[in-house]
Amino acid sequence: MYSNGSAPARKVTVPEIRARKRSWDRESWAPASPARPESRSQALGQAHGEALGRFSAPAARETREPASVEPIVMVTAYDFTMARLADEAGVDMVLVGDSLGMVVQGLANTIPVTLEEIAYHGRAVARGLARAHVVGDMPFMSYQVSSVQAVESAGRLMKEGAFESVKLEGGIECADHVHRIVRAGIPVVGHVGLTPQSVHAFGGFKVQGRGDEAADRVVEDARALEQAGAFCIVLEAIPPDVAARVTAELSVPTIGIGAGSACDGQVLVCTDLLGLVRGRVPKFAKRYAELGDAAVEAFRAYAEEVRAGVFPGPEHAYKPNGGSSRAAPAESHERMTELDAPLALDHWH
Ligand code: KIV
Repeated sequence: MYSNGSAPARKVTVPEIRARKRSWDRESWAPASPARPESRSQALGQAHGEALGRFSAPAARETREPASVEPIVMVTAYDFTMARLADEAGVDMVLVGDSLGMVVQGLANTIPVTLEEIAYHGRAVARGLARAHVVGDMPFMSYQVSSVQAVESAGRLMKEGAFESVKLEGGIECADHVHRIVRAGIPVVGHVGLTPQSVHAFGGFKVQGRGDEAADRVVEDARALEQAGAFCIVLEAIPPDVAARVTAELSVPTIGIGAGSACDGQVLVCTDLLGLVRGRVPKFAKRYAELGDAAVEAFRAYAEEVRAGVFPGPEHAYKPNGGSSRAAPAESHERMTELDAPLALDHWH
């Protein structure tokens, strides 16, 4: 955990995340003609009601004051620097996703990512977080074999990756694993809908839960995870009405990615939202900045200045030796110490 000189931040806890469930008045789910909302909470209900599709009605409304239950904000991060920036921005949860295979390693999918890699990136990310809860993704084949394997892998992530909870992909078929991991005292985040580790089974990165049967399966999967003890569930790439139905039926929060606005929270991949990605990004990935373009510009300016002999200028060089090319022994010791201590302030400023 970093220190920036101010009072230490308090970490977001699992019970706090678990409590960030917006509750819905299920009684009022019935097809109804659109009505003009009279209050803020009715307006919110109407907006969500539109997303609820066949399970919704404009009359659907939150039973609590919207302001009292804020949506959960989750982002991915893979290193100390990014984690620290996300934490400073006040996100609630940081996921060290197996998306690191694609984002950091340049792979075509997440399948080759290992437990050791998730743990390595987890340690770096955890050092950057003063407040946000840190979740570690369980990679492909680190839990599918058996519940024993699942508990052992989750345990290794907690011990070696400095995580506070783990996430795994899959529904009913993984419920027993989730149950056993939770029984071992490890909080679990579920993940249903498009589960990227099954990319080949799906025939590509495709929207899931289309059609009544597929939608029912997503709901059943999410319910099974809830019953097994998951404290929140990621819903990826499913139609918004299906996400709304899952969200309304569960008592644990849902966190959507490409699942519409009715979820209890949202997650995005950090490089997508920062506009660092070159090439195609998924439809749901809103770009809040264009840092990729800014980075290319900065690299270009640096290259030009080096080639033109403009950088480094005197302001980026250490004090000269004062004419003598040979440093006195004491002086040279001082200088070595300064260079050897990476966090010595005078080295950096
Ligand atoms: O690996 C990942 O980044 C994820 C998120 C997209 C939810 O699983």
